[in-house]
Amino acid sequence: MSEGPGKSGLGNMKQGKPHQSEGDVNFSPRRKAWAADNIGDKQAALLKRDEAAFMHQSVSTPCLNTIKAAEGAYIIDGAGKKYLDFHGNNVHHIGYGHPRLKEAITRQMEELPFAPRRFTCEPAVELAEKLAAISPGDLSKVLYATGGSDAIEMAMKVARAKTGRFKTVSFWDAFHGAGFGASSIGGEQLFRGEAIGPLLPGTEHVAPFACYRCPYGYECDEHGQPNVDLCKTTCANMIRYVLEKEGNVAAVIAEPARAVPYTPPPGFWKMVREACNDAGALLIFDEIPTGLGKTGRMFACDHDDVVPDILVMGKALGGGILPISAMLCRPELDILGDYAIGHYTHEKNPVTTRAALTTIEIIEEEGLVQNAEQVGTYALARMEEMKEKYPLIGDVRGRGFLLGLELVTDRDAKTPATDAAEEILYRAFDAGLSFKTTMGNVLTLTPPLITTREQMDFALDVIEGAIRDLNNK
Ligand SMILES: Cc1ncc(COP(=O)(O)O)c(C=O)c1O
Repeated sequence: MSEGPGKSGLGNMKQGKPHQSEGDVNFSPRRKAWAADNIGDKQAALLKRDEAAFMHQSVSTPCLNTIKAAEGAYIIDGAGKKYLDFHGNNVHHIGYGHPRLKEAITRQMEELPFAPRRFTCEPAVELAEKLAAISPGDLSKVLYATGGSDAIEMAMKVARAKTGRFKTVSFWDAFHGAGFGASSIGGEQLFRGEAIGPLLPGTEHVAPFACYRCPYGYECDEHGQPNVDLCKTTCANMIRYVLEKEGNVAAVIAEPARAVPYTPPPGFWKMVREACNDAGALLIFDEIPTGLGKTGRMFACDHDDVVPDILVMGKALGGGILPISAMLCRPELDILGDYAIGHYTHEKNPVTTRAALTTIEIIEEEGLVQNAEQVGTYALARMEEMKEKYPLIGDVRGRGFLLGLELVTDRDAKTPATDAAEEILYRAFDAGLSFKTTMGNVLTLTPPLITTREQMDFALDVIEGAIRDLNNK
């Protein structure tokens, strides 16, 4: 007899809800209050239909609001309210609806809308060549998928085939996608809940680099600066230790800069690269949100001068219009010719690949990586000044346009100021700014690469105003 949902996973899940690491929660009194003040009848009707039509899931359905337009760095909700979008799921590097991209997609649809099995096409090949040209080292053999999670799964298969091993080492708190393989190497409870059941075997996890909340208990100095040598060595040595003790690990898989955000201590990835080489494990970098310039370099791993064996990208690759992801491998990993590891329906789709090609051209020709580097450096300096003024800010960190302000109620105890973070989020919506909170108390800013200094100042003015108000309460 079936146990029914009461005794199976769902019952377990209800005993303890998973940690809402990915952002604001679907139900909270503040969200309800904001909706009551801001959602008109027309929006409410669509939200109701949405809620009835879609499976409910965390950070998705029910939705907060409706959207009717997205242009450049802005989104416009169903009531016509405009928001500077400092979240954008990291797809909007070139801004929403870039005219040149729309034109290229339209032209491509007219010329050739699809490439079925056995046929290749010009944009698919040109994109593969372009990705090889902009990627570090000798990464040059490519496979496409439609989503990041699928591309991660392909990378895991390649690592298994190359090494003849199946184990992986990845970070707790990381996110790599919603598929079974990707959820297994991910480290967020939200995607690994008990209701989902057993994940892949051999997916070992270690504590990530997170200097402000060092999992090994090391403290920052009086200026809030970590001892980077100690951080680097401790975290990298743990990976080496697990690789050695566990044995037979196929790959270490990680985001080179964590989306929380956390940047790695200098030299960390070099040590991990060496540990992987010594253990015969591959190094796979997930650059799905960070690739194509988010951190102020074309790839986050360029900051560390470390070349992985496999690089995965997605999100912004389709220019914020079409879904496409890619896996780039070293040539010697091209060993699975007799198998189909990622022959997806839209593998060599001329329209999605044209979109990706044009997106990269726009990023290069408009100097967007440099803009992220320059405006991001300015923003980080301003955030540091804000930290000097407001005790609510425990830490500021980031690189390029991957930025975070971590809020605490007590700087010594580092107690997460989750309530303040949520209050600031809704005040920002009121002022016309959208962003995401991570881990409940980190204001995570991921602006599009087109963001100007004026737009950055607007966003930081909004956040600073809200922090000042709360600080004076
Ligand atoms: C680091 C990272 N990896 C993988 C993914 C999964 O990408 P997708 O949602 O396209 O499957 C995401 C998406 O947020 C991500 O941030």
